[in-house]
Amino acid sequence: METNIDSLINKVKQFSAKGWALGVCHGISHWERVERNGLLLATNDVNTTVVRLFAYLHDKWRVDNWEDLEHGRRAAENLPALRGTLLAGITDGELGLLRKACELHTVCHRTGNATIDACFDADRLDLMRVGIIPDPKKMATERGAFYAANIGQFYADTCTGEGDYFFDKEEY
Ligand SMILES: [Fe+2]
Ligand SMILES: [Fe+2]
Repeated sequence: METNIDSLINKVKQFSAKGWALGVCHGISHWERVERNGLLLATNDVNTTVVRLFAYLHDKWRVDNWEDLEHGRRAAENLPALRGTLLAGITDGELGLLRKACELHTVCHRTGNATIDACFDADRLDLMRVGIIPDPKKMATERGAFYAANIGQFYADTCTGEGDYFFDKEEY
């Protein structure tokens, strides 16, 4: 059964996909895996609504597929404009966490906030799509560090295999 959160996430996904012109590297398939990773990493103190929203919004304001270090800040700046529409149903606290996670995901390794750090590691665990195994020492959460050090377990727990990360390569 679709919950209110599922319905919100679907709308946000459609919003982010609309007009997306940068292909799959930072596109929908990446966002879906970040959402899945975030839910896998979420401990009891993680706000999963924020993690799921982060998945579909953190790269939305990229201008290219290179480093583009400013795209996190641009996302944080653009989110308040969605407050009256797409993001009307979340709390001020959730919006604040979402903005911080987006703003810092390009420039910060760890904040100490469980929700923001889960967002960071959910994104990092998808670096394998570009052939990079994340460094356990650079992960923000204990679970993230565990999976970075035990990639076989990550594949097992996400029901994916190493090969699943290479079909995207053609379309960068
Ligand atoms: Fe990003
Ligand atoms: Fe990303």
